[in-house]
Amino acid sequence: MALKNKRILLIISGGIAAYKSLDLIRRLRERGATVIPVMTKAAEEFVTALSVGALAAHKVHIELFERDDEVDVGHIRLARDCDLVLVAPATADLMGKMANGLANDLASTILLATDRPVLLAPAMNPKMWSQPAVSRNASQLMIDGAHFIGPMRGEMAESGEEGTGRMAEPLDIVAEVETLLDTDPKPLAGKKAIVTSGPTHEPIDPVRYIANRSSGTQGHAIAAALQRAGADVTLVSGPVALADPRGVKTVHVERAEEMRDAVLSALPADIAVMVAAVADWRVASASGEKIKKQAHGGVPMLPLTENPDILKTIGHHPKRPKLVIGFAAETNDVEENGRAKLTRKGADFIVANDVSAETGIMGGKRNQVSVIGHDGVEHWPDMDKGEVAERLVAMIASRLNG
Ligand code: CTP
Repeated sequence: MALKNKRILLIISGGIAAYKSLDLIRRLRERGATVIPVMTKAAEEFVTALSVGALAAHKVHIELFERDDEVDVGHIRLARDCDLVLVAPATADLMGKMANGLANDLASTILLATDRPVLLAPAMNPKMWSQPAVSRNASQLMIDGAHFIGPMRGEMAESGEEGTGRMAEPLDIVAEVETLLDTDPKPLAGKKAIVTSGPTHEPIDPVRYIANRSSGTQGHAIAAALQRAGADVTLVSGPVALADPRGVKTVHVERAEEMRDAVLSALPADIAVMVAAVADWRVASASGEKIKKQAHGGVPMLPLTENPDILKTIGHHPKRPKLVIGFAAETNDVEENGRAKLTRKGADFIVANDVSAETGIMGGKRNQVSVIGHDGVEHWPDMDKGEVAERLVAMIASRLNG
């Protein structure tokens, strides 16, 4: 609920991308925001006020109607009684009015009267976007302090033309709103962090590999939480089905050796959190061609060889980060095994968890961990993996700043 208690005044102007604004309203509300919709007269040609109002669960303020109703509503109050003004889609026409200080309808009057941050998500035909007049207006708006997201490259909904002009996707707009309204403290500003996440895939031949059940949920949540706390984060991720966390430099790898190389090239860093479930072994000589069943006249033997231990390498590296944290996936003697790994791998903390099948932790959404340090152990309650990430980052910040 990153937008809890936030009031977003959403201006929908008249473009085909207005259909995406309906989804945008839902996404903003999912994150706890109150959405106050304003539509231009032209927007009504593309989406109905009924749909907008129903999705926003809020009265829709509309151009002419509002001018008649001005005594009641007051465009000044509307313009200021919010945390942010979002214009999506922002048409060339509305941007032109804004850039030139024109105010001849409710939307443009609000934009002229507001003292809140303004975020524009332009959407128009690529030829329009590249017109000198539109570029001039966009540059002027940036100079005046408006924030922009997009337009993006892609196929236009109406003409199928390729080019820059598509409105940014609703989830990306929401993320930008969150960034603009983010007033969280940044205890890790200026710190560099490396996080590993997900499984590794160790090839047997070009079509087969050895893998494990790690989903990357915990590692990705930690990378995102470190980024929110202000750190400059490099996430080295094995193959996962998750999106790259926003604002995090994500390096995609498959094998343990690739993961090690990516981690080493991200040094120096202040913080290393090694969450990946790195395969301990790889096939000693993976076949360049698909292994055929007949060729063996039975079951092939696959000699294994040990993979590099990335945490151990980092824990004993000349450029060792100030804080090195490992995870320990155990199915028995969780604390004892975790403690042994702490010393063996040169870590400051081991976050140990019980990944026995019945706990559902591996690949699940929740986690129950014990944080083992050189001066004791803390048992954390069962939490969402996002909460584990937040708490771990708070611990990291207090260690580094304390
Ligand atoms: N790790 C690593 N490189 C490896 C193996 C593990 O960086 N080749 C890291 C993991 O990211 C984790 C920690 O070491 O932070 C512990 O991983 P785990 O699999 O529990 O430990 P192992 O050393 O593999 O020990 P074992 O499998 O015997 O329990």
